[in-house]
Amino acid sequence: MAHAELNRLQACLSFALDTLRKEIDNSQLPPLSQQSSVAHPLDDPTTYLPSTGLFEARRLSLACLGELKNLIQSPLDKIMDERFTIYGVACTDTLIKTGIIDYLSDVPNPSQGVPAAELASKFELDSQKIVPILRCCAASGWVRETRDSSFALNRCARTFIEGNAGRRLNFSMPGFMSIIETIPHWVAESDWKLSRSPEQTAFQIAFKTPLVAFSWIIENPDVLVPIADHLQVFGDMSTPSIVADYPWEQLQTPVIVDCGGGEGGLISSILDAHPSFRAIVQDMENVVALTSSIMEDRRPRDVANGVLKVEPHDFFQPQPRIGNEYSFILRHIMHDWPDKEATTILGHVARALGPKSRILIIDMVAVPNVDSTATSVQSLMLDSGAKGPDYRIPSHFGSASRIVSGSSVHMMTMINGCERSLREWEKLVKGCGLRITNVYPLRAHTSIIECALDTRALL
Ligand SMILES: C[S@@+](CC[C@H](N)C(=O)[O-])C[C@H]1O[C@@H](n2cnc3c(N)ncnc32)[C@H](O)[C@@H]1O
Repeated sequence: MAHAELNRLQACLSFALDTLRKEIDNSQLPPLSQQSSVAHPLDDPTTYLPSTGLFEARRLSLACLGELKNLIQSPLDKIMDERFTIYGVACTDTLIKTGIIDYLSDVPNPSQGVPAAELASKFELDSQKIVPILRCCAASGWVRETRDSSFALNRCARTFIEGNAGRRLNFSMPGFMSIIETIPHWVAESDWKLSRSPEQTAFQIAFKTPLVAFSWIIENPDVLVPIADHLQVFGDMSTPSIVADYPWEQLQTPVIVDCGGGEGGLISSILDAHPSFRAIVQDMENVVALTSSIMEDRRPRDVANGVLKVEPHDFFQPQPRIGNEYSFILRHIMHDWPDKEATTILGHVARALGPKSRILIIDMVAVPNVDSTATSVQSLMLDSGAKGPDYRIPSHFGSASRIVSGSSVHMMTMINGCERSLREWEKLVKGCGLRITNVYPLRAHTSIIECALDTRALL
């Protein structure tokens, strides 16, 4: 049929946007606006959990937009678009570093716009450099050019204001770009091109260090806190859904152990919603010092009466919390490590399980990018109650899966880790004497893969 793909995507996008509009109204949220400099609840997944229908309609809309772009953009434009994305990163970093973001948010009438000349004089900068940088940010929707060379913050840029989630979600540690530049050499021609070791990655080549990324972070205290904070925000993006979408009341163990629990944000939110549990956060020695001080600050009573403990534990060593009293969380741990190390970590937890214990692996489930896995829109939108047409989109959500595929390359580059498909998860879990008892999709990029001892393996 003529224009079959274009027609299909157009209809699918139209259906997704209709559903999005309806779900926003049903949730009694204000309309989305690019003209507004006021934050919208949907802007912050760490604090607002959308309805399932709203989450799915938004994801589907973005998937259709991405597929449409892939369909109609010329390959040469695509190259330029992709290559220039890197400048977008540098431009938002510049707005943060100069203080322009905070200034634009503090002016008396933020949506009116501030002339670049005023910004240049205020921060002792060259307006000829500031204007192209702000225009580059405008192309990504962070700012608006309200009149020639005057700029106002858009609502989404509020995330970059000091203390807000986007400011803390900071991939730009010094030297980060050099790791990325090293990837083609590492993969194609380095002595380590066939290595799966976490000690032989683009990270070690670029940073000229023999240390595994986590050990390097520990040795560099100036990056420890910002990176722990960054990891906490990355985790927080799924926390509201983890708390709401997993049936915690069915968990039969009184204590939850968060292995490699970082700053303890997840455990804290679970305890808020389910105060009948006790909890333990485990992490590396240097990290638990930070975790303890955060927890003593946020939950002094729980720490004092033993409801919440923070303890050093290296997850490459046998798990000391053994038996039916304990269930375990591993959020964003397994994706950090190649199969050999991931099997060691999961194996130690598996050997500590009692029959009632569960392991909750919280990570992305990568979906192979092949046409045969296409999913019908109808099946995706079931929870919204919307009657959609039976269009098919790639089940990895097309270019909307870039966060999963990008994360996989990121983990590989840093530590030879990866995001795993369900088949890879099953293999890994089985190899540790476990079975997957359920997979809970979240209103986030991750899922909960619930595992228990595979008693059938013992028969
Ligand atoms: C990607 S972060 C995830 C943090 C936390 N689970 C979350 O979801 O916010 C990985 C965590 O593993 C911890 N880690 C790395 N190596 C470890 C080890 N050998 N033993 C225990 N924790 C470790 C890091 O300190 C870090 O907190």
